[in-house]
Amino acid sequence: MGSGKCMSLLTLLSIVWMVMLGKVASQDYGDALSKCILFFEGQRSGKLPSNQRMNWRKDSALRDGSDVGMDLSGGYYDAGDNVKFNFPMAFSTTMLAWSVIEFGQYMGSEQQNALNSIRWAADYLLKSTAVAGKVTAAVGNPNADHNCWERPEDMDTPRTSYVVNQTHPGSEVSAETAAALAASSLAFKSSDQAYSKVLIDRAKEVFDFADKFRGNYKDSVGEGVCPFYCDFSGYLDELVWGAAWLFKVTNEQKYWDFVQNNIAHIPKQVNRIVDGNLQAVNNFAEFGWDNKGAGINVLVSGWVMNSKTADPYVPQANKFMCSMFPESPEKTVSYSPGGLMFKPGGSNMQHATAFSFLLLVYAQYLKKHSGRISCGSFEATPSRLEQVAKGQADYILGKNPLGMSYMVGFSQKFPQRIHHRASSLPSVGGHPGHIKCKDGTPYFQSKNPNPNMLTGAIVGGPDKKDQFPDDRTNAPESEPTTYINAPFVGILAYFKAFPKLPAV
Ligand SMILES: *[C@@H]1O[C@H](CO)[C@@H](O)[C@H](O)[C@H]1NC(C)=O
Repeated sequence: MGSGKCMSLLTLLSIVWMVMLGKVASQDYGDALSKCILFFEGQRSGKLPSNQRMNWRKDSALRDGSDVGMDLSGGYYDAGDNVKFNFPMAFSTTMLAWSVIEFGQYMGSEQQNALNSIRWAADYLLKSTAVAGKVTAAVGNPNADHNCWERPEDMDTPRTSYVVNQTHPGSEVSAETAAALAASSLAFKSSDQAYSKVLIDRAKEVFDFADKFRGNYKDSVGEGVCPFYCDFSGYLDELVWGAAWLFKVTNEQKYWDFVQNNIAHIPKQVNRIVDGNLQAVNNFAEFGWDNKGAGINVLVSGWVMNSKTADPYVPQANKFMCSMFPESPEKTVSYSPGGLMFKPGGSNMQHATAFSFLLLVYAQYLKKHSGRISCGSFEATPSRLEQVAKGQADYILGKNPLGMSYMVGFSQKFPQRIHHRASSLPSVGGHPGHIKCKDGTPYFQSKNPNPNMLTGAIVGGPDKKDQFPDDRTNAPESEPTTYINAPFVGILAYFKAFPKLPAV
């Protein structure tokens, strides 16, 4: 056989392969959406309901809150550990709710599961704020917890409750909790009005507390939350974010006044932690559990675009978008050779999903107003924003140099050794005997695949060169978190409905 013929056969094969890949990817957003939501069942703390689908997990931490005379059972473990960190949990809840608010109409039968995932957190946040003038910041001594490799069902480390109050305040955790309750209220508005009302009433109270009694929670409950989830960017961004959500839901002038009066006071340069060191970064280009900068601008743009109050929200949101396009002269994020977006710091996938969510939401707002974005010499249409978001989603689901889906249980090839205590230890169902703190170490160190599939979990992801060792001891790359998955729920709902984007 001549080499020419060989080449053409190869070319043909690769075309067939690419078409198949395209087809698989565009058909499976629905499957990915179901799994992305199912993941939250694996993170559940407390008494599991009879309709629990991820049933290798069992009841755990039923007495949480008993040390402070409260019922704080329920909620989500934050990642691969067994601590309930309210600050990132509230942020994940806000993002789940925002996913339903923007894209719930495209979820089909999964919308109910998405609402259930929100309610599981919102019920816990209601418990966390049940006493006026107090907000729970975390449950579970994080140092004791991290020192053990233990199933949540076996936990015997101190379940200390860390609570902020009027003399020891925490405005970031309180205001993010208010944002989560407000956004959840809107998500439930059409399906459960009574619950929606309970949530918004509480959101208002909690916001008042966050605003009136100002302080950083690290100064009040430091060892319970730092260095794990210190708020490096300060709390004013959470207060403005909380007020913006309250305004979106209630339309009450005082919340809009709060946003308008405070937006200019959020520092232009804020701190973020990068490999253990603080680094000054541009506020407009950040979004995650710590920093709400770009999220505020995108959210508020939803009602100020093309109005005389568009400034500074729309210009700043535009600048954020310009920081992401690969062809933009103002690009500040980097991309791996295979096309994954990178920001400094661990658990990179949280940036890829949260930023892609904002791209997708902002694209819808732009479309409504026939808007475009100018990034110096480069002009972006809404479709271009959606393409960038879709590139990230497709990479995560397996269109990458390793052909690896970074979502557990999705596609043929996915991470087998995720950094997750419950997933890596035998299930309590099959192995009811107690496994003590250090008796879990061999399971942590084992090269074997995890015995329990935490379906839908998205891990921190590959390195800058698209390499992924699938190593449980490499937490930044192999640990899932609630705030990676939460924004991805909305993204997958959109691409389930619109798997093929128009050409730009
Ligand atoms: C307020 O919170 C701090 C920190 O959690 C705690 O030490 C203190 O006892 C609390 N005060 C009251 C009155 O609950």
